[in-house]
Order: sequence, then structure tokens, then C-alpha cells
Amino acid sequence: MLILGLETSCDDTGVGIVDARREIRADIVASQLAAHRPYGGVVPEIAARAHLEVIEEVVPSALQQAGIGFSDLSAIAATTGPGLIGGVMVGAMMGKAIAAVRRLPFISVNHLEAHALTARLTHDVAFPYLLLLASGGHCQLLLVKGVGAYRLLGRTIDDAVGECFDKCAKMLGLGYPGGPLIEQAAQKGTPKAFALPRPMLGRKGCDFSFSGLKTAVRTLIAGRELSPAFVADMAASLQAAIADSIADRARHAFALLETEGVGVTAFVAGGGVAANQTLCARLTAIASENNVVFAAPAPRLCTDNGVMVAWAGVERFRLGLVDGFDVPARPRWPLEETGAVS
Ligand code: KG4
Ligand code: ZN
Repeated sequence: MLILGLETSCDDTGVGIVDARREIRADIVASQLAAHRPYGGVVPEIAARAHLEVIEEVVPSALQQAGIGFSDLSAIAATTGPGLIGGVMVGAMMGKAIAAVRRLPFISVNHLEAHALTARLTHDVAFPYLLLLASGGHCQLLLVKGVGAYRLLGRTIDDAVGECFDKCAKMLGLGYPGGPLIEQAAQKGTPKAFALPRPMLGRKGCDFSFSGLKTAVRTLIAGRELSPAFVADMAASLQAAIADSIADRARHAFALLETEGVGVTAFVAGGGVAANQTLCARLTAIASENNVVFAAPAPRLCTDNGVMVAWAGVERFRLGLVDGFDVPARPRWPLEETGAVS
């Protein structure tokens, strides 16, 4: 089984080819970072146009990398939401067009499901597992019971964690995307330099909040000179506050599942923020407190890519889950509404 996956929901045009034995046969990501950088964030219109400009080149490149032709493929998978609708439409239409012309099955993939299942490509992870999905647009804790079977345990009540990294990085003059730049700057800083709040610490449930933290950073920065030492200390303090907050929420999720008598096989992280090594070290400790393994894909597979969509395609295809060409492109599509029967 060979599945080609297309990812175009944000600012990366990703094409991946994966087989059922978990081998990555092609992995191409065309980043639009340079086009968005002057604006300090992703501009939807620029994103849609940029996807359109490169998608016809990256599909044949992926086939070439895998050393195969269209006729070797078993199905085409594409992200059909959630995300910036112009970009989602580009990938979804390309996927449907290839499937129609080559008479291949089409698999509609929820972008969040692709992040949620990537650890099963990279690690031996069995259902059910606890998942932290942390990206630029989302921050959630979920119980993953199977393909298409997700239970939301907690989510952010305001900003996504990646958004917090990005906005604070912008305030610190570090650029975009902020997460990797904060992580890099933090290496030279002291995590205890600034006493930042730990949002939601000790609160009931598993919800997150990051807007207060962002405001605290803004207040501390006001009127200060952004010297490299100051930026490094603030980056380290912010990263520590985020890790503490997420660690607390994850502990609550484990406690909740234990109260309900729900066992899990692993603690998994996915989404761009799961590339953060300080965060992963904290999550590893929490997993071991709860006697399960921790698994996060390599950073390249945490941030948006086509491989994760191809893998979600493999997971769906082997359950016989294929879709008609009438599936819509969706700007909003909660993971809990991603049924196993679509
Ligand atoms: O999953 P992703 O590539 O796109 C979305 O679906 O949103 O996630 C992008 C987010 C950005 O906010 C970026 O700053 C963050 O992931 N990110 C990181 C790191 N690498 C990417 N955050 C913290 N540490 C990192 N190393
Ligand atoms: Zn993503």
C-alpha cells in the first residue's frame, strides 16, 4: 500500500508518500516563510496563492523521490480542514483531481487527526493514548481511542500555545515563527530570571490559558532595552512557564482518566510545539510518573508536513475509510467530529 498525502492548510506545502510498513518514501515541504516574514505572521491570501504556485511542482518531485509513478499509488489523501480555507481548497482540489484522473480512491484528512496519528508512524504506539496537540492554532488534551475516535479532555480558553510563543517572540524582536526562535534564545538564558505566571496551575480540569502569560511578558518588556541577555532570560522564563503550565494540565488529564478507570498505553505529543525539547523533557517525566511511555515525532514531523497526511491516509485506508469527491473544504473542523465513518 502506497499513499500520497497533501498538506496545504497553513503556510507549508507538504507532499509525503508513506507505505503501510511505516516507511517514508517521500517527504517534501515547500515553506512559504520568506513570503510571510515581513508581516510577522501568515497572510491567508499570500498563503493560498503560494500553495497554488508550487503544488504542481512538488507532487512530481515527491513521486520522483519515491521512485514511483502515479500508477503505483493506492490512494490520495489530502487535508480538507481545518485551516486557512484558500490553502485547504488548493490541496483538496489537487488531491481530488489526481484521484479522479488516475481513478484512485480519495481520502479526506482532518489536519488535527494527521498530527494526532503521526506518533504511530514514528513509534510503536497502540490505542488508546493520551494526546497533547499543541500547534499554532490549537492546544488540546485528547483521549485517542482509535482512528476517528477522539474525546476532548481540555483545550485552551483563549490563545493557542504556539500563538503565545509566536506573539512573545515578536515582542522580543525575534521574528517568525517564534517557537523555534524562543527555544534557541532560551538556551543562553535563565528560566528563573523572571517570575512569570503559570496559567491554570492547580485549577480543576484540563483546560489551558495563555493570554495572561502573553500580557505578563508584554508588561515586563515595556520600556526595556531588548539586549541579547534580556531576550535570552525572557525566552527561558517563558518557555519554563509554558512547560510548567502544560505539565500541570497533563497531570490533571492523567488523574481524570485514572478516576474514570480508563487506562492508556502512552502519552503522545503532536503539532508544531511538540518540537520543543524542553517541553518534551517535562512530558517524558509526567509519562513516567504515570508508568507509560512518552512519544513525540521528530521535530520535522511535528510541524506541518505531507507525510503525516499520507500516514493518516494509511490509517484510514486500511479500515476501508474513503471519501467521495463531494467532501467539502472546511475552515473549522473539531477533531471530535472526525468520525471513523465519514
Ligand atoms: O503544527 P504547526 O506547524 O502548524 C499549525 O498547525 O499551527 O505548528 C506551528 C507552531 C508555531 O506557532 C510555531 O512557533 C510552533 O508551532 N513551534 C514551536 C517549535 N517549533 C514550532 N514552538 C515551540 N518550540 C519549537 N521548537
Ligand atoms: Zn499543524
